[in-house]
Amino acid sequence: MKIVVAGTGYVGLVTAVCLSEIGHNVTCVDVNEEKINMLNEGKSPIFEPGLEELMTKNKERLTYTLDYKKAYRDADVIFIGVGTPEKKDGSANLTYVYQVAKEIANNVEKDTIVVVKSTVPIGTNKKIEKHLKENLKNNVKIEVVSNPEFLSQGTAVRDTLHAQRIVIGVTSKRAETVMRQVYDGFNQEYLITDRESAEMVKYASNDFLALKISYINEIANLCEIVGANIQDVTKGMGMDKRIGNKFLNAGIGYGGSCFPKDTKALSWLANYNDYEIKTIKAAIEVNENQKLKLIKKSRKYYESLEGLNVAVLGLTFKPNTDDLREAPSLDNIPILIEERAKIKAYDPIGENNFKKTYPKEAITYCKNVKETIKDADICFIFTEWDDIKNFDITLYKKLMRTPIILDGRNCYDLNEIKKEKVIYESIGRKTINNLK
Ligand code: UDX
Repeated sequence: MKIVVAGTGYVGLVTAVCLSEIGHNVTCVDVNEEKINMLNEGKSPIFEPGLEELMTKNKERLTYTLDYKKAYRDADVIFIGVGTPEKKDGSANLTYVYQVAKEIANNVEKDTIVVVKSTVPIGTNKKIEKHLKENLKNNVKIEVVSNPEFLSQGTAVRDTLHAQRIVIGVTSKRAETVMRQVYDGFNQEYLITDRESAEMVKYASNDFLALKISYINEIANLCEIVGANIQDVTKGMGMDKRIGNKFLNAGIGYGGSCFPKDTKALSWLANYNDYEIKTIKAAIEVNENQKLKLIKKSRKYYESLEGLNVAVLGLTFKPNTDDLREAPSLDNIPILIEERAKIKAYDPIGENNFKKTYPKEAITYCKNVKETIKDADICFIFTEWDDIKNFDITLYKKLMRTPIILDGRNCYDLNEIKKEKVIYESIGRKTINNLK
């Protein structure tokens, strides 16, 4: 079976590499020459643990090319894994998906199954099939299958190879059979359904998780007001198997390439169809406020941060990725810059991406936590990287000028922090103030 994957971002590349791992020959197509060159040198253009190792292991079965015409010509299955970024009005931008579909239609010379892995609004698979058929140059049969992706960044390889589910939306038995052949070797549970339901599984799953996070963040905010401890509360909630204990970590809000985009896209789609999806709208609003929670907390200690030494620990939207998309740091650092704080920041791998957004002069980038907090008047924790969580907390008092720690990810045990001469505020837990 000849498999082609269009797009070498998180979804496309991880899918391609994992399919090669189970024995398929896979051709990866991208329009970005720089990316294709990197891939041909054995380097991954995205930071994803385990990915480069699998690329090396399966290099005989992986081809990377700019030549989409040649790739699509005789493909049995073509995956579309290109981005569907958010437009200004919150809807999904499908330009890249339709561009790839057109190129496929213009070049296929044999019957082909086109698998849409990109996250697309409900109803799009049907429209893509229509678009393909309208643009077909040769007399071949083409079918579109919806096969949403559920991988998380940082664990994408594992999530794909050991997926909890493979959702396939089809309109024919033939397409179902081909898809089962593609995934034979993954050994996972399948859900075979119509295309609209498959598309909806993706949005409903992501939006449910986003809603769960916003819900727990609101409960955490209330915990702070009434003097409860969110970690004990979520532990208690999680003991109920109907609720479960996953995705109940309170913090300064969700970021990343999916939750913010997919909540807005579903809300947009509902509006477009004259329906108001109130729960998701609330999740979005709560998240936007939550992202600024630490700055609000800082006002208790300093009216303005002007001229103060401010330490920032963590820039990426979560640990184990260099991705900054919708990261809380992007909402907070502009405020610090505007207030003319003297910012020192540390992130184990997100620094280079962050530098592209902000001119170097505004921020001094540090090599570790110690260097960042030295002489600081306040410290903000935006991402729970391991070396931040495992940092020797006795050093905050020793190194900072005024040891005020505002932790947006509940990195430290309150019982341990209580022993330190610091001010420590986290999310949904009591404030420790040992500087009184
Ligand atoms: C998410 C989904 O998990 C994945 O299934 C989908 O395919 C793509 O979107 P990802 O964006 O990579 O994956 O990261 P995820 O680990 O889900 O975290 C998203 C955001 O939620 C992060 O900012 C994280 O910090 C936040 N989060 C997550 C919380 O605030 N609390 C939690 O309990 C879990």
